[in-house]
Amino acid sequence: MLHGIDNDVVENAFARDVVVGLSADVKTLPSRWLYDERGSELFEEITRQDEYYLTRAETSILRERRRDIADFVEPGTILVEYGAGAGVKTELLLAGLRVPRGYVPIDVAGAFLAETSSRIASRFPSLCVRPIERNFLDTFELPFIGSGGGRTGFFPGSTMGNLSASEGKTLLMQMSRHLGDDGRAIIGVDLEKNLDTLLRAYDDGAGVTAAFNLNLLKRINVELGGNFRLEKFKHAARWNEIEKAVEMHLVSLCDQSATLCGRTFNFITSETVHTESSRKYTAESFEQLARSGGWKVAELWQDEDGLFGLFGLIRC
Ligand code: TRP
Repeated sequence: MLHGIDNDVVENAFARDVVVGLSADVKTLPSRWLYDERGSELFEEITRQDEYYLTRAETSILRERRRDIADFVEPGTILVEYGAGAGVKTELLLAGLRVPRGYVPIDVAGAFLAETSSRIASRFPSLCVRPIERNFLDTFELPFIGSGGGRTGFFPGSTMGNLSASEGKTLLMQMSRHLGDDGRAIIGVDLEKNLDTLLRAYDDGAGVTAAFNLNLLKRINVELGGNFRLEKFKHAARWNEIEKAVEMHLVSLCDQSATLCGRTFNFITSETVHTESSRKYTAESFEQLARSGGWKVAELWQDEDGLFGLFGLIRC
């Protein structure tokens, strides 16, 4: 049992994370709790906002550079996707590859995973689809899918940027183990650029990102019996120059307190709760991260405006 925390809180992972995060001197809430059903819908909507260039840029790379990407990947590969999204990018990638043999999507959200898997299996009937319901940061082995054929990891969406440096390294090392010495990896990474463009991507004019961030407080109210007043917090996107990251915060608009799980948390005016970081890279800083996890950059494909990078990695 965690010191000073009641048993019912310890047994509920969401409650535990919220109580621990809000008890710290610098308050945080882990971003994985942003994605309940409403949060996932709002996130899909973020990707359609004008200011959110990332999804459009990455999708255009997969379309425009499909031949180069196919040349980078051995024919007959097994594609392993870390965190299966809505599957649009995966379908684009698979459609361009030469006779891919297998597809292994890994995601914690079981229902989502099943839906994406069955859609891909019906679109690509000769593909062996083997979903794994896990957090991709846990340590686990891949299922055996016949012999022969290399493996290719796929990690799009700038999700690498949401991981801490040590989580990023852990994932890259797990990918090395999963994908083997001849393995390849294709990683979607957002690139450093002018601050205005970066910040607007995380604070769109229609307020969808703000609603996405504030939905976390709503979720705490509903699921943990909290009494956060949503109108007394606002969303803010801030640049952290040391971390080279856009940070999402919830800013308290007054001195106030909120109660949940029988505990009271105080907020002073302008105090923030940090909910997510989205790291931005250059070719050099990403190469450094890749090397820390046993990979090196073999290819970098970019959209025509140079906003986003799809890195092709081989083992080093
Ligand atoms: N991987 C996405 C990114 O870093 C996640 C994301 C986009 C996000 N917008 C957000 C996370 C707003 C939290 C809040 O761009």
